[in-house]
Amino acid sequence: MTKSTAHTTQTARSDGLGGSVRVPGDKSISHRALMFGSLAIGETRITGLLEGEDVLNTAKAMRALGASVERQATADGSVTWVVYGRGVGGLVEPESVLDLGNSGTGARLLAGLLASHPMTAVMTGDASLRSRPMDRVVTPLALIGARFESPGGNRLPLTVIGTGEPVPMVYESPVASAQVKTAVLLAGLQARGATTVIEPAATRDHTERMLRHFGAEVRTATVADKPGAVSVTIVGQPELAGAGIVVPGDPSSAAFLVVAALITQNSEVSLHNVGLNPHRTGLFDTLKDMGANLVVENERVEGGEPVGDLVVRSSRLKGVVVPASRAPSMIDEYPVLAMAAACAEGETRMEGLGELRVKESDRLAAIADGLMACGVHVEIDGDALVVTGCGGLVPGDAVAKVHLDHRIAMSFLVLGLAADKPIGVDDAAAIATSYPGFLDDMANLGAKIEKGPDQNGTSVS
Ligand code: S3P
Repeated sequence: MTKSTAHTTQTARSDGLGGSVRVPGDKSISHRALMFGSLAIGETRITGLLEGEDVLNTAKAMRALGASVERQATADGSVTWVVYGRGVGGLVEPESVLDLGNSGTGARLLAGLLASHPMTAVMTGDASLRSRPMDRVVTPLALIGARFESPGGNRLPLTVIGTGEPVPMVYESPVASAQVKTAVLLAGLQARGATTVIEPAATRDHTERMLRHFGAEVRTATVADKPGAVSVTIVGQPELAGAGIVVPGDPSSAAFLVVAALITQNSEVSLHNVGLNPHRTGLFDTLKDMGANLVVENERVEGGEPVGDLVVRSSRLKGVVVPASRAPSMIDEYPVLAMAAACAEGETRMEGLGELRVKESDRLAAIADGLMACGVHVEIDGDALVVTGCGGLVPGDAVAKVHLDHRIAMSFLVLGLAADKPIGVDDAAAIATSYPGFLDDMANLGAKIEKGPDQNGTSVS
């Protein structure tokens, strides 16, 4: 870890963030809208789609599999993505390798689709994605009859040899993962009969909501003798009909601006149209437990998902214990929660974070190393992360290593707003995977940001 220099993108101690932001579309819902639309008959019109690199890679993959996926922009600047699907089981063999870039969601969900089509396809991705485990989807998808070949032992590049006769099954997943659940359900779409996934704890349910919206029969139930577990069943070979999708703002992207406003003194920020699916709001609950002045206004349902506006004001935060049971509802938010914890008074203990080791980077290590470089006391205790808050400004004066991880980059840039000396990141380009306008949105709210050379050409001054 080096000291901050003018050659990195960095942020400095700021005062009085103010204004309002419409956060970009939800990444999870955007991937699903493109994929499920590609399986439907007729037109799917998507508004609010996230135009980050991850989702654009999924759009390319769906085109390569035979769907028509087009971006339509009108003179007033509004954008609609229009998909014409091929019907359930109707995807065609791609002519070239499918490159999912940085996206675990893209790769895992697509594996489910490919597994149940009688064709051979190769998936790859960037160095981060190529290092992430695929066994979690390969294992169940092999049970339905697909075969996989990989020089790297169930990692990308991965050849999927799909089956035209997927076997319906009941699969009990060892991990609470919406990606695994969705991969199995997507494979089950083509099976003759019902496919059930049992997850040990409830994870985000965007797949269930959206598949029903397209006309599939999806049933959910609790599981006898397994407290907290959920079973999800899809009835195979439905007719999916194209439908309109309104993608809400991503609570996982809003999270960075929420924490920025909380830790920057004299701030009041409004965030519009933020998705508030109860399986995604663990961070907001935790921040409230820490004393955050965070108010939800104008709650409503749009496109089958709960949304609302958030008003966030600077707050004195105090350390809390975050139980493992909360992890599925805030799995992507621990990096930025750790930044809030670094500014809080007292200790914050976050439990049950084993899954963070296999995200876009080893997030436990990336958070701990970056915080220590910024002068914050951190400990990793098994799969718990313990941060001792500074009760105000952190020392700063460091460059955090991003390891191709967008959320690590945004987290440390947020922390720089409440640091005595600036905090930089070694790779701000990673941010484009999920939130291409992040630096501009932060600057418009009044954050002090200096761009590094990798951000030349973007509009923050
Ligand atoms: C996602 C599920 C989560 C999350 C990821 C998006 C999804 O992964 O970390 O960013 O869209 O299904 P897991 O389900 O593997 O925890």
